[in-house]
Amino acid sequence: MTDMLTPVLSDNWDTERPWTLESYEQTGGYAALDTALGMGQDAVIDLVKESGLRGRGGAGFPTGMKWGFIPQGDGKPHYLVVNADESEPGTCKDIPLMMASPHTLVEGVIISSYAIRANHAFIYVRGEVLHVVRRLQRAVQEAYLAGHLGQNIHGSGYDLELTVHAGAGAYICGEETALLDSLEGRRGQPRLRPPFPAVAGLYAAPTVINNVESIASVPCIVRNGAEWFGSMGTEKSKGMTLYSLSGHVKRPGQYEAPLGITLRQLLDLAGGVREGHELKFWTPGGSSTPILTAEHLDVPLDYEGVGAAGSMLGTKALQIFDETTCVVRAVLRWTEFYKHESCGKCTPCREGTWWLVQTLARLEQGKGSEQDLENLLDTCDNILGRSFCALGDGATSPITSSIQHFRDEYVRHLTEGGCPFDHAASTLFA
Ligand code: NAI
Ligand code: SF4
Repeated sequence: MTDMLTPVLSDNWDTERPWTLESYEQTGGYAALDTALGMGQDAVIDLVKESGLRGRGGAGFPTGMKWGFIPQGDGKPHYLVVNADESEPGTCKDIPLMMASPHTLVEGVIISSYAIRANHAFIYVRGEVLHVVRRLQRAVQEAYLAGHLGQNIHGSGYDLELTVHAGAGAYICGEETALLDSLEGRRGQPRLRPPFPAVAGLYAAPTVINNVESIASVPCIVRNGAEWFGSMGTEKSKGMTLYSLSGHVKRPGQYEAPLGITLRQLLDLAGGVREGHELKFWTPGGSSTPILTAEHLDVPLDYEGVGAAGSMLGTKALQIFDETTCVVRAVLRWTEFYKHESCGKCTPCREGTWWLVQTLARLEQGKGSEQDLENLLDTCDNILGRSFCALGDGATSPITSSIQHFRDEYVRHLTEGGCPFDHAASTLFA
């Protein structure tokens, strides 16, 4: 079964102090940088396009195509910004990656910045994870001292400054344009798109914003080639990726496997659902992706497969819930999160998430009515597609999908005068 795993990004995580430069270089680290510097910028962009790498932050946008939007030869400043503000409930892949092997990310940043002709890059990291901020700062310092960053990198004539910037704890700053506002020193709120950051991003200059895992995947593509990368995964969703399993699973953690693997296969690797229990529902990519059920165990976990099943691959944060979990309670918790994190810029999300929490709480406490179910769906309908950014849309996903799959359970909260579950038995959302 373990032959289904394809450890590439996580390959060095079990080595001695893998976060140090010494350890990273012993396993071939920074050799891809030399290769890239010898290839020329356009060739690196072509290689990433050819590999089929798609954004690992959730949306799956082709990375090479995004890089290709940056005007080349315009002589103006360009920026690379790494979105390391990982905050989606259930999502926990970038933080372990940065803790275990920060130099994989730093090497990816240098190669990617070189490709898009940027001389200043930023890693915008979630402020709450101070240990990660410190680890990144140390890795960047080591890279400067070794000549991997700064002036005339490896004697190539290419210069790059890399700044690690800690956010201040707002989920919305993971939305790429809010992140830019925050980085510029303003309150982080989404900007209107278009223009996309590739045209007018940081300080209104062309900017590539990529997720940590996307950038960290670049050195191995340079090292092994586009064909090697494409030999893993599916026709449209290529390569390997980090799946994060959490919740009611025997061995939670990171599992690096090809895109297109199924939850059934991942659960086999992770020892299955906790002893004596069975799968009830799960999220494919964090709480803003519609929930799926045991019927979807064989859905290929790639952008197309999960989409066809009515959800989204998102961040590949597979949160597993067994039959002891009340779906209404889980959805209420997630909705409280979105209400708290709504930036307040637009009415459908700011007011709508407040109403969603009120209604769900009433249902969970047994004080609801059948009309509340219709009100929930109606409120979601007025948020979806009418919000300024993806946060509002994402907040509706767990509600509409849970009513679709578990309407009976919502009704039981009405007919049985409250929540029929023993929350202590679930241990989650207790
Ligand atoms: P999106 O699909 O609007 O954009 C994806 C990327 O492609 C962006 O960088 C955008 O600038 C670029 N892009 C799209 N069309 C373009 C065009 N015509 N020209 C130039 N660039 C273009 O997705 P969005 O709103 O940026 O992200 C939503 C995703 O974020 C969701 O799928 C969700 O799963 C994920 N997410 C991840 C979180 C995390 O903690 N990692 C937190 C919350 C959401
Ligand atoms: Fe802010 Fe929510 Fe509107 Fe996004 S959808 S701009 S988070 S209020």
